[in-house]
Amino acid sequence: MKITIIGTGYVGLVTGACLAELGNDVFCLDVDQHKIDMLNNGGIPIHEAGLEEIVARNRAAGRLQFSTDVAASVAHGDIQFIAVGTPPDEDGSADLQYVLAAARNIGRHMTGFKVVVDKSTVPVGTADRVRLAIEGELTARQSDPQQCPVTFSVVSNPEFLKEGAAVEDFMRPDRIVIGCDDTSEGQLAHAMMKNLYKPFNRNHERTFWMDVRSAEFTKYAANAMLATRISFMNEMASLADKVGVDIEAVRHGIGSDPRIGHSFLYAGCGYGGSCFPKDVQALERTAGAYGQELMILRAVEAVNNQQKHVLGQKIVARFGDDLSGKHFALWGLAFKPNTDDMREASSRVLLRELIQRGATVAVYDPVAMPEAKRVLALDLGPTFDQQRIRFAHNAMDALTGADALAIVTEWKTFRSPDFAQLKAQLKTPVIFDGRNLYEPDAMADAGFEYHGIGRSV
Ligand code: NAD
Ligand code: UGA
Repeated sequence: MKITIIGTGYVGLVTGACLAELGNDVFCLDVDQHKIDMLNNGGIPIHEAGLEEIVARNRAAGRLQFSTDVAASVAHGDIQFIAVGTPPDEDGSADLQYVLAAARNIGRHMTGFKVVVDKSTVPVGTADRVRLAIEGELTARQSDPQQCPVTFSVVSNPEFLKEGAAVEDFMRPDRIVIGCDDTSEGQLAHAMMKNLYKPFNRNHERTFWMDVRSAEFTKYAANAMLATRISFMNEMASLADKVGVDIEAVRHGIGSDPRIGHSFLYAGCGYGGSCFPKDVQALERTAGAYGQELMILRAVEAVNNQQKHVLGQKIVARFGDDLSGKHFALWGLAFKPNTDDMREASSRVLLRELIQRGATVAVYDPVAMPEAKRVLALDLGPTFDQQRIRFAHNAMDALTGADALAIVTEWKTFRSPDFAQLKAQLKTPVIFDGRNLYEPDAMADAGFEYHGIGRSV
């Protein structure tokens, strides 16, 4: 099938590459010339396991192309996926300017039937706005007597992939959610989407068909539920620290109940990324627009904002308010392992706190160092100077002379370091573990002063 992907970011690039891998003829559009040039020169703008190979293979096979040519992109795909960003507006609601700009472009250039798929995470009712934006452009063109009437259908097909496992998640989805309307165009769209997703449903049916608004809502409800589990566990961990309980034992104890399950129960130093923080807020704003307050989600957000300070608070409790003259090692900058994405990363909150209190810090992340240099310059402004933050060559190098190590991201390589070497590198053997990577007893036996999250047994 001929597919166009509008927006070649995390979701767009993965979607485009994976659909090409399945034999489709895919055209990826972006407004960012630099990104398109990089892709056309064989580069990959994001770190995602397996993606580079898939992109290279499908470009070579002529099934995957990258361009900034809007008219060509609209002409190419019978199915047009909108996968542009939906960042938070000033009030926290989803900013739809990029989605609507993409829709207007489709309306401006389309000459035959198109299925327009909202893949971006968008609030309930967005498909109607996309339809109106396209209709507005079509109406503006009606003065041209040569123009045949063109029809289209807007479909909601939210994406559930996780960064760091994006290709795997896309290729082996738990579920595919598709919302279509019941007009004749909607029925045609249904048939075309069914055909497109056929390879994913070979062994068992994974597609959930529903109305458009329910599909839009399903995406927010899923992210809100996952964020709620994390904030719940983080709040339990704070209490565990006070009452002398090990949250890791509690996690096993409750997760074994199949009604609860094991995943997304890890207490830590807060959730980050480009999605949970913005989607929780956007759902709250949707509710607000209908006169409802989502009390649970307000608490989820408040707990998470507080949790991002938990490592800083533990460090201050141990070393005092004034950290001038103190030097810390920080392992892990990305918001989660296996990505270089630093959007809303907890490391940014901790770094700001340490620097503002006068400390110096040596940081290390296996892949996010270049992104960190870019992002920290924006965060810290004039206080960002390379004398206060050192970008270490490797994990052990970051430890040299540090008063303590703080761990923010659970990269595999941090899970079983050489503890003897680690201890020898540190000035004092103190560890603040924001992801509960180690066992408190083992750490005590190895001579470390160990501060986990909710592990003060
Ligand atoms: P991103 O910022 O990585 O990519 C968006 C891309 O769209 C950028 O390259 C930008 O230049 C481009 N763009 C903007 N306006 C355009 C236009 N008019 N025409 C063509 N290109 C345009 O964003 P992302 O992380 O891929 O997220 C996209 C959407 O998918 C968001 O709604 C997000 O919530 C959702 N989502 C993201 C993930 C994830 O893991 N990142 C997972 C599921 C859903
Ligand atoms: C999340 C969802 O998991 C995806 O299903 C969804 O498609 C995506 O958002 C989206 O809508 O964009 P992602 O943000 O890539 O994916 O990463 P997650 O693995 O969900 O982690 C998010 C944050 O939660 C990370 O900071 C992670 O450290 C934290 N987390 C996760 C915890 O603190 N505890 C946990 O138990 C799990």
